[in-house]
Amino acid sequence: MEVFLNGQFRPASQAVVSVQDRGLLYGDGLFETLRAAAGQPFWLRQHLARLTRSAAALNLTLPDNFPWAAVIQELLQRNGMATGIAAVKILVTRGEAAALGLPATDQPTIIISAREYTPPPPADYRQGWPVVCFPERRHCFLGSHKSLNYLFSLAARQYALDHGGREALILEPDGTVVEGAAAGVLWQEGGGYFTPRAASALPSVTLTVLEDILRRQGLAIQRATGPVARLLQAEGLWLANSLMGLMPVAALDGQPLALSPATSWLNDLLWSEVG
Ligand SMILES: Cc1ncc(COP(=O)(O)O)c(C=O)c1O
Repeated sequence: MEVFLNGQFRPASQAVVSVQDRGLLYGDGLFETLRAAAGQPFWLRQHLARLTRSAAALNLTLPDNFPWAAVIQELLQRNGMATGIAAVKILVTRGEAAALGLPATDQPTIIISAREYTPPPPADYRQGWPVVCFPERRHCFLGSHKSLNYLFSLAARQYALDHGGREALILEPDGTVVEGAAAGVLWQEGGGYFTPRAASALPSVTLTVLEDILRRQGLAIQRATGPVARLLQAEGLWLANSLMGLMPVAALDGQPLALSPATSWLNDLLWSEVG
């Protein structure tokens, strides 16, 4: 297994970063997880747009004119993943700097890695997943960035697994749903599509891409507050992320939900959009 680290491809066992790296010290960095198929990453432009926006917000310098697509393609080739489905991870940290705050550094650490990815089986997409609300509430601007501070999501996911769920829902202090531990949220109501309007939500690339596709068909994804009671009445509720696409939710805190017939249509639309 090879990874790309700061300009070079190396065996993963020989790719080392400093113990002073701020990604390790403070979670001071960002990441993106992309799906790749047949050696090509899906939705790279949208992932890079989110990375760039978050880097600017956190004063993290990204290299100019970095050949992201070429590096990812070569990485997939080198790891024998030019066919099949892979999960590609782009990770950027601030590198080393002693000062607290968010100091500008000219040497970010850049790591790109890939692993084979097996999507959930078709039966999961037909039957849906049970989800569980994480009882800890979250209202933090960091939620809108895919930062290396991922412990809240990991704790939420673990809570869900411990309580019979496949994924957790993260709620704001006012009880409205923001997103999943590692997924955006989409629901269907009155035949229309909705996603939570929440400042602390990560803007999901999957939902951004879906929104563009639906817009071309004259349909919209509207932003609305999503209290749990509203989601329980939905005609369909989905988790969305770049690796699995749209996964229907079959039950929320043990209460069964309607399964929308739109799941496979929406996923077919999504996976037809490579660029
Ligand atoms: C917290 C969180 N929200 C939403 C998403 C969905 O994002 P995307 O559609 O860009 O994969 C993810 C992805 O892992 C996530 O970690």
